[in-house]
Amino acid sequence: MKHPTKARASAGATVGNVICGFDILGLALDNSDNSLGDIVEVTRRPSPGITIKRVHSSDSGIPTDPENNVAGVAARAVLERANATTAGLEIEIWKGLPLSGGMGGSSASSVAAAIATNSLLDSNLSRQELMLCALQGENLATGSMHPDNVAPALYGGIVLIRPEDSTNPLPLPVPKGMSLALIHPKLKLDTKSMRDILPTHITLDQATAQSADASSFVLSLFEENWDLLKKVLVDRIAEPTRKQFIPGLDRVRSAALKSGALGAGISGAGPSIFALCKDQADANLAGQNMKRIFQEIDVGADLYVRPIAQTGAGAQLLEVS
Ligand code: HSE
Repeated sequence: MKHPTKARASAGATVGNVICGFDILGLALDNSDNSLGDIVEVTRRPSPGITIKRVHSSDSGIPTDPENNVAGVAARAVLERANATTAGLEIEIWKGLPLSGGMGGSSASSVAAAIATNSLLDSNLSRQELMLCALQGENLATGSMHPDNVAPALYGGIVLIRPEDSTNPLPLPVPKGMSLALIHPKLKLDTKSMRDILPTHITLDQATAQSADASSFVLSLFEENWDLLKKVLVDRIAEPTRKQFIPGLDRVRSAALKSGALGAGISGAGPSIFALCKDQADANLAGQNMKRIFQEIDVGADLYVRPIAQTGAGAQLLEVS
């Protein structure tokens, strides 16, 4: 049988934490048209080893050394799991997501690279194994294997991840029409630094309130209970130390809430801010008003309004030839 020589995969933008679930909740934005995500193409080469042929990105400074590139690291992890370390691979990356933007860019590249490499090698790694490989890319970028971007990038939808079982994300219901306004102020916040400033301890009261909110969020999705959902999108863990790096956060959130959003807060480690809305019309209005605040404070920002990806509509294999 002839083996493939080239495989290409895409993975989309994701929101880590979803405000009330630090490191345990994540969601994927619809990327069915591949316009809000990263694409990774992996081609066989005759000589062993991985090279990065090119990174297409509006951000400079994305490493092309495969040991220092998340896609290179995820591809290497696939080679190791597939016992194919003598294979030669050339990787080309199209970054649709910004670097250090809080939109899950490192996870998207890692997941797309893992899927493309797995297909190229015909190695049939399971989703759990692909997730572990992608988490190694995430670890390179952020110094941590937190799964709340990698899991939704791979599986789509809204997911809950138990840290003790991080390769088996639990899919949550995606209420019909639920949409996001995601606004990316043109600033960079490196996730590793944003994790280094986090508190190492929280109080018992904070832990109790946060557990109640994360659990209530899950229930609110099952019941489509918007009144409950509106109360629980609160972050007592990361936002207090991170908000100082995100200009206008309170004003942008307030503009979103006044526009009918169910809640708004930092996307992942920031600087992006998202508003969760029950439908696309609310998300459009919230997005315009969030953007207006950034204009008022002279911060350039890109706005994306999208439905949440359906469960299962995560990363896609685009081509194998
Ligand atoms: N849960 C992670 C964090 C998401 O907040 O550091 C980073 O994208």
